[in-house]
Amino acid sequence: MTGAVLSARNLRVETRERHNGVAPVRRVDLEVMPGDRLGIIGESGSGKTTAVRALIGSLAKNLTVSSGTIDLNGEPIFGDGVDRLRTIRGRSVGMVFQAPRATLNPVRTIRSQLSEMARTHVPGMTKAAAVERARELLSRMGLADPDRVLKSFPHELSGGMCQRVAIAMAVIAEPDVLIADEATSALDVTTQAEVVKLLSEVCEQTGTALIFVTHDLLLAGDVCSHLAVMYGGQIVEQGTSAAVLGAPAHPYTRALLAATPGWRPDVPPVGIPGIPPRLNLDFVGCGFRDRCTFAQDACAHEVPQRELEHQRYTCVREA
Ligand SMILES: Nc1ncnc2c1ncn2[C@@H]1O[C@H](COP(=O)(O)OP(=O)(O)OP(=O)(O)O)[C@@H](O)[C@H]1O
Ligand SMILES: [Mg+2]
Repeated sequence: MTGAVLSARNLRVETRERHNGVAPVRRVDLEVMPGDRLGIIGESGSGKTTAVRALIGSLAKNLTVSSGTIDLNGEPIFGDGVDRLRTIRGRSVGMVFQAPRATLNPVRTIRSQLSEMARTHVPGMTKAAAVERARELLSRMGLADPDRVLKSFPHELSGGMCQRVAIAMAVIAEPDVLIADEATSALDVTTQAEVVKLLSEVCEQTGTALIFVTHDLLLAGDVCSHLAVMYGGQIVEQGTSAAVLGAPAHPYTRALLAATPGWRPDVPPVGIPGIPPRLNLDFVGCGFRDRCTFAQDACAHEVPQRELEHQRYTCVREA
């Protein structure tokens, strides 16, 4: 028992198709403690979405989790013959995606969707109590006229309003963990800042741990207590945000920071040379080796990880 709300060990996701197949997630180990706000960062295609979708059993049909275990509050929910992901989805683990309209039913009012969500997951709740809870949550999400929103259909709301509703929908059952995958990326910068602030406030008030997936390193640094840097289907470095951003240790983390506009206001960003590898099923070793100045022959068949301190992992090459 580690006291973690959610933990995943040795998670691997592969295509069901063996011929020309890939493994978008090769190995993910993570641990989210109560109240943590864990940011998962990394460039496009690094496997962030696939990894978090695996955590809630919501992968694309052609993908499957081929190894690994997932525990929720110390109880196994996946792996070793157990698969209870469907029963925890929505109730214990909520999720918000980039395209909120896709998660909302276009032909039902917000009131009916939110209250149903609350009642499905909170046994014994009356309809009136569910609507009241929905109204209160919408107002907490910064929506000025919650009654009008409750009466509306998704197409009658702006993108920013829909995203607030989607967040309300994900937290109304007070899940233990909320996973937000690029949930604010489609919003304009001002709305994004506000929605992110509300998201982390709601999580704090309800004691919900947050897994915040984003391309935006600076945003992740602002929002998250911990960061996991993903590359080539693996977490290459993780630790507190202060440690990862203040003293990045993995060559990829350093390259990612150097490539981030605004990371160092006085220094122009420098792109990362080369491209990420195709993660064929038989791909082994460190995915960054062809782009890394510290790579050694051994990196072709092992991932040289080491633990710097408790819960802080990175590459072993640079002492
Ligand atoms: N259903 C699928 N079948 C085959 N390959 C897939 C599938 N879904 C994703 N992939 C591949 O897995 C890799 C990781 O994709 P994923 O969407 O998880 O990355 P990401 O880090 O979330 O990227 P982004 O930042 O663009 O959202 C990519 O190379 C992608 O092409
Ligand atoms: Mg993604």
